[in-house]
Amino acid sequence: MAEHAVAERETQAALQEEILHLKRTKDAVILAHNYQPGPIQDLADYVGDSLAMARFAQKSSARLLVVAGVHFMAETAAILCPDKTVLIPDLEAGCSLAESITAEQVAAWKAEHPDAVVVSYVNTSAAVKALSDYCCTSSNAVAVVEAIDPEREILFLPDFYLGSHVARVTGRHNIHVWWGECHVHAGIDADSMVEKVHQHPEAEVLVHPECGCTTRALALPPEGIPLKVLSTDGMIAESKRSSRKTFIVATEVGLLHRLRKENPDKTFLPAHEEALCPFMNLISLEKIRDSLRDERFRVEVPDSIRQRALIPLERMVQIGK
Ligand code: 13P
Ligand code: SF4
Repeated sequence: MAEHAVAERETQAALQEEILHLKRTKDAVILAHNYQPGPIQDLADYVGDSLAMARFAQKSSARLLVVAGVHFMAETAAILCPDKTVLIPDLEAGCSLAESITAEQVAAWKAEHPDAVVVSYVNTSAAVKALSDYCCTSSNAVAVVEAIDPEREILFLPDFYLGSHVARVTGRHNIHVWWGECHVHAGIDADSMVEKVHQHPEAEVLVHPECGCTTRALALPPEGIPLKVLSTDGMIAESKRSSRKTFIVATEVGLLHRLRKENPDKTFLPAHEEALCPFMNLISLEKIRDSLRDERFRVEVPDSIRQRALIPLERMVQIGK
């Protein structure tokens, strides 16, 4: 092994030791999203999708929660766990999807549909959640919408592709969907997806509902090609359940680490190699160490917003598997 690679390994091992020590002495846990870089996933106390992270945070008895993910995930933990200190290692770790709607826009949309129920994807700011009736994640969006009176109009925001998927699965025609998107998932284009499917006809296709290619992928010739639209934890479960040996995965490529680790005998091919979330990848082991050591950066939500955002978030954690 080259000298610099050995040195890098030693630095990483020393960092991991330091983090583990800080975690123990500070009564902290690290929650990592499925898109986090591999070394962070390997070190975390919990790795999962947005819904599982929120539920884990709520049940944790630790004093400090370090969220290795993006800002709305830390905000969600702060809203659900007001008695804990919630930290994010880099305040710049935002989300392009959460940026696609503001609280002012939600208020204006509600004014146009005063009787509608507002369902917000968890990828939103606390201020947007505070104006919502329900929150959901990609794991339970269908279950959340099915829990709402079929006669009531729904405003679904901000993800257009997830909203369209939910409308398709539930067969509801009274859902209005906001035009927002995640630039990473929207970048997974249908052409590269279709090409991969033709190259690997033996593969099962796993598609995240935030993907712009979902509609085209669903129209692929059905002969022998199973296709499932799933959240990231849903993909992990399906990879274990399925008897297929090869999978084409249409989501952020960080998920491949866990898929491969938990299924060493199977092959996972990204639908698009460059589907990398720049915000998720701002988090590093160094920043986690600094975050634990200095107890920074604290994520807090003003009480007036927190109280209102708690209602839709509590509904979210209670609905669905
Ligand atoms: P899930 O892990 O909930 O499927 O979320 C995907 C995502 O884009 C999170 O930012
Ligand atoms: Fe946001 Fe997309 Fe990154 Fe998820 S992958 S955090 S939705 S920008």
